Amino acid sequence: MVSRVIPVDVFDLVIFGGTGDLARRKIIPGLYRRFLANQMPEDSRIIGAARAALTEDAFREQVRAAITEFVPAERQEAAAIDAFLARIAYVAIDATGTNGWATLKAMMRENVVRAFYFSVAPSLFGDIAQRLSDHGIADAWSRIVVEKPFGRDLASAKALNGVLARHFTEAQIYRIDHYLGKETVQNLMAVRFANILFEPLWKAEYVDHVQITVAETVGVNGRGAYYDKSGAMRDMVQNHMMQLLCLIAMEPPYHFDPDAVRDEKLKVIRALKPVSAENIVRGQYAAGEKEGGYLEHSENPASKTESYIALKVNVSNWRWQGVPFYLRTGKRLRARASEIAITFKQPPHAIFDDAKGWHENVLVIRLQPNEGMNLMVMIKEPGPGGMRLMQVPLDMSFAAVLGDQADETPDAYERLIMDVIRGNQTLFMRGDEVEAAWAWTDPIIEGWEARSDRPQVYDPGSSGPEDALMLMHRDGRRWREIKE
Ligand code: BG6
Repeated sequence: MVSRVIPVDVFDLVIFGGTGDLARRKIIPGLYRRFLANQMPEDSRIIGAARAALTEDAFREQVRAAITEFVPAERQEAAAIDAFLARIAYVAIDATGTNGWATLKAMMRENVVRAFYFSVAPSLFGDIAQRLSDHGIADAWSRIVVEKPFGRDLASAKALNGVLARHFTEAQIYRIDHYLGKETVQNLMAVRFANILFEPLWKAEYVDHVQITVAETVGVNGRGAYYDKSGAMRDMVQNHMMQLLCLIAMEPPYHFDPDAVRDEKLKVIRALKPVSAENIVRGQYAAGEKEGGYLEHSENPASKTESYIALKVNVSNWRWQGVPFYLRTGKRLRARASEIAITFKQPPHAIFDDAKGWHENVLVIRLQPNEGMNLMVMIKEPGPGGMRLMQVPLDMSFAAVLGDQADETPDAYERLIMDVIRGNQTLFMRGDEVEAAWAWTDPIIEGWEARSDRPQVYDPGSSGPEDALMLMHRDGRRWREIKE
């Protein structure tokens, strides 16, 4: 099967931080793959912008190295790489000074989409925005793309929004949460709103609880300095997990349109209840046999930063009254596995005597790896011996069903960058959404800071801290097993 390729306009994409890690690992390899998919019209250019005084050729060699390292070998075609490199330019620029800005202005062309990717520390957002506008480099149709972290609390997020708003309208600002670019995350909306099957059951009357798990096997490794200021709550929950929760909990938007979708997500965030201390479990991974523990990666040997967090969250609205959403995410866990599981309630009346054989219906949406959906249903156990019940999976792996088409799926960054060029903000966070997410997050963090809580230590390769099990056990529920 050949996937449909939607054309995009001719563009100039300037990547500030063009020599940085994100550009090397994600942005450049992603653009190369879109180039292979014919989504980079002729005349489109990628302009790396960074402090280093590199020649264009030297930057192109960095781009070649990034492709060699981060694109699968079977997609590395020598002729295609050369053709891609011919579209790469470079400008040495000082984000906080004057050097390079006139050169960049001279490079800009009329009548093409101009996009500026801020793949730099947030402290530079204001400087870059200011210079783009002072030098007349950004026009009214230009777009800027900003990376997380978008602030570290409500006050800093508001300040950042304020700085950007001085030079750009909201319609020009693309705040990236790469989870929204994941195929299966978007699929959540397709499953909910393109089927009649699930939506009637998608409410407190029929749903017992929801579990959202984002488990990672990697540790913090070289990111200790960043992570210590962040922790799992700021790094994963305030953004990625919050977005997943919104897509599950939101009302149907009137159209798949940027503001219609974001309005509905915003309502969910605003409906989140404050979370009390007994509904939060924080953990920190211990040293393993071969690898150091969290504290070895941290710059602070007494760090209280959490590498794991589990929360019981309630959405205070009509649809979700009394339905807990259990969220957990952590590093150095047993397996890399992200999924959303919706557990439904019991039928109102049991007509079969086999009460023990009965299990709840569960809809599992596997986000990564092994993307797919699984619906656990009850059937009769085959054979004689009376009416005994058993639970079986209606299991669908997207790779098995979609074959090659699934292989060609763009990764999160590729899709989001193409959406920037197309001018589609549906999968980007609006300023008010980010602020509302911080408004909910701040008191939770302030609470454990005021209590001087220490995270509970957990073994690497485990399912997280013991107390997290209790969070569900005391409600008579269990976490699903973390497995690939
Ligand atoms: C990033 C976090 O935003 O998401 C990382 O900063 C985390 O700590 C990563 O590992 C997870 O992303 P993915 O796409 O690998 O699930």
